[in-house]
Amino acid sequence: MRIETTIATTRRARLALPGPVGFVPTMGYLHAGHLSLVRAARRANASVVASLFVNPTQFGPSEDLATYPRDVPRDLSLFESEGVDLVFAPTVEEMYPAGFTTFVELEKLSSRLEGAHRSGHFRGVATVVAKLFSIVQPDRAYFGQKDAQQSIVVRRLTADLNLPVEVVVCPTVREPDGLALSSRNVYLKSDERQAATVLSRALFAARERFLAGERDAEALRQLVRDTIAAEPLVRLQYVSVTDGETLDELDAVERPGLLSLAAFVGRTRLIDNVRLED
Ligand code: PAJ
Repeated sequence: MRIETTIATTRRARLALPGPVGFVPTMGYLHAGHLSLVRAARRANASVVASLFVNPTQFGPSEDLATYPRDVPRDLSLFESEGVDLVFAPTVEEMYPAGFTTFVELEKLSSRLEGAHRSGHFRGVATVVAKLFSIVQPDRAYFGQKDAQQSIVVRRLTADLNLPVEVVVCPTVREPDGLALSSRNVYLKSDERQAATVLSRALFAARERFLAGERDAEALRQLVRDTIAAEPLVRLQYVSVTDGETLDELDAVERPGLLSLAAFVGRTRLIDNVRLED
């Protein structure tokens, strides 16, 4: 496995790889969710490139950039054991040198759901993903359903900018008790870790109700609110039922929808979602 920290050497190493090339962008502190993306990339491509970069432009000023968990040696050894061919692990200066001024912004899509609560987040995500695609030039890129809005934003940006990359979205990997894997789960104290299971329980209960025929979006949102209200350590920030493509908020779920939420468990902010489709 090659590890490169500069854009120039990464471009050269990528050109030497047999195609098709699958790409898995990450911010590191890897867990089984990230590794499921690497495995999907490994299965479908001749070569796999991964990136390891905690992207400062997608964190707000009061967010957890400084404390975001990091363990580069462990990440590299996990990538190696999953058969990654090339890792791009740049510094912040390499990605954002002095004088950097170009950002990618998506109208509408970036201001909904997560965007409404994390201003500038998707501007940072879209910018770094466009840069990574330009550097790595993958044939396919792998993203997790866990960050549903991010996948939608990346799909849209790829189509709008005519980037020749196929975006593949892989299912959310969960703990046995339902909690979606996240690098941020390490912030949870043990009582909070237990309480956090209410998020997936609420989503699954609402999905069951949908599958049993409930199409009223507000009834589904209310079921999530009521389920989470029973857990004192968890404070729901938003619950939303939207169109699965446009993220327009729905009154009735008559086409494939997305039920998503963000909540604080203690001081840790977690997100999760399920798709609503037959
Ligand atoms: P990060 O949070 O490290 O996640 C990297 C990828 O792993 C994303 O596509 C994310 O959706 C996926 N992922 C995270 N948890 C998952 C889970 N439980 N199951 C399946 N996939 C999961 O997302 C980012 O980094 C950044 O925004 C990035 C795209 C790298 C741009 O900086």
